[in-house]
Amino acid sequence: MNQYISENKDRFVNELLDMLRIPSVSADPKFKQDVIRTAEFVAEKIREAGADHVELCETAGYPIVYGEKIIDPNLPTVLVYGHYDVQPADPYELWTSPPFEPVIKDGKIYARGACDDKGQMYMHVKAFEVMMKNNALPCNVKFMIEGEEEVGSANLGTFVKNNKEKLKGDVILISDTGMLANDVPSITTGLRGLSYVEVEVTGPNRDLHSGLYGGAVANPINILCQMIASLHDENNHITIPGFYDNVQELSQEERAEMARAPFDLEKYKKALDLGDVHGEAGYSTMERNSIRPTLDVNGIWGGYTGEGAKTVIASKAYAKISMRLVPNQTADEITEKFQKHFESIAPASVKVVVKPHHGGEPVVTPTDSVAYQAASKAYEETFGVKPIPVRSGGSIPIVAMFKSELGLDSVLMGFGLDSDAIHSPNEHFGVFNFMKGIETIPLFYKHYAEMNK
Ligand code: BES
Ligand code: MN
Ligand code: MN
Repeated sequence: MNQYISENKDRFVNELLDMLRIPSVSADPKFKQDVIRTAEFVAEKIREAGADHVELCETAGYPIVYGEKIIDPNLPTVLVYGHYDVQPADPYELWTSPPFEPVIKDGKIYARGACDDKGQMYMHVKAFEVMMKNNALPCNVKFMIEGEEEVGSANLGTFVKNNKEKLKGDVILISDTGMLANDVPSITTGLRGLSYVEVEVTGPNRDLHSGLYGGAVANPINILCQMIASLHDENNHITIPGFYDNVQELSQEERAEMARAPFDLEKYKKALDLGDVHGEAGYSTMERNSIRPTLDVNGIWGGYTGEGAKTVIASKAYAKISMRLVPNQTADEITEKFQKHFESIAPASVKVVVKPHHGGEPVVTPTDSVAYQAASKAYEETFGVKPIPVRSGGSIPIVAMFKSELGLDSVLMGFGLDSDAIHSPNEHFGVFNFMKGIETIPLFYKHYAEMNK
């Protein structure tokens, strides 16, 4: 298999570059045709690699690419999940090369989606080709590649609920996360959940002259800032009543185990140009961004932001706020607690509206399962060291649904790095990482099938 991989390396990379040229931005309707074209591209590649019954499953939104290779119904079935949609590329001016004209610089592929998730998803398509061409596929495989992950996977949820028979399998395999470093492989064992809300604060019924009215009426921007500031106390604890009620605290042993993962605080600060880190008192940086819940403003606007100065008290102010959740918080519970609290702290001088957006539940995946052990062995063979289990701070809401609806655990074999700048300008993915994925995935199948015998 390794010979086949090295002989076809350039083609594998070039095919990925072809896919990266299609701007499949799911959030922006302007790219609708491109998103659909990407689905067709992925379907064609899965078909060429040797899958049967490849189809685009229509949904109320973008199609789900489905394909399967059933070699023996008595063998286990691996369900591969990934996404072909990408985040918007703006701000365009901060990219050193255009986001949809991929280039390879210093061994890294630069393009929107290079890592999240086109590059990582495509490793699975190529790993499947490698196994097919070498008569080495040891079990059944089903692909389920969606086009709406970056906008909340609303239609995939419905698809999963309505297609339980079609999606029958034994384990979900996903590469849409990261690892610690190229010489410190890790397997993601947890994802945070998400509650996302938008708030609108209204003061006077029209914009006002800030001299004639200033000081006498509530300025909704001032009020919104005060309200947001009050959501954290001096220890950076979140002040929403009941917010931590269901948070699972880790034992001292578990925290000590976590602290063994290599982490260099000075390097971390330097990479982000930070004078210091910031977060909840009593927890380390690694804990703050994985096992603890958070509340962050993602955007805030209102009033005059154009050239020069305009003296005005705006009628309205807005913010988008995300809360990352950990077991056993639930998105509905937290959204409701936020809403109730936010409305309660609004002074009588303003009106507040809270609009919930998409959400998702947190997950922790087992490390004592056959699938995890198979993945661990696979990494150990290709990297030469045993991978470390690490809980991630990111979210893939569908993973919790795979568990609740299909009863399946996921194995999160991510090959990206935190420095790959996903969702940011200059997103990239190492050719090394792409190829390591293609080498490691077939070994997962091999060990998984053997261990299931
Ligand atoms: N692939 C990411 C999530 C991720 C990245 C998890 C790195 C762990 C490590 C995914 O595409 C993503 O961006 N998820 C969103 C949530 C979604 C509902 C928009 C997120 O985490 O913000
Ligand atoms: Mn992703
Ligand atoms: Mn993403």
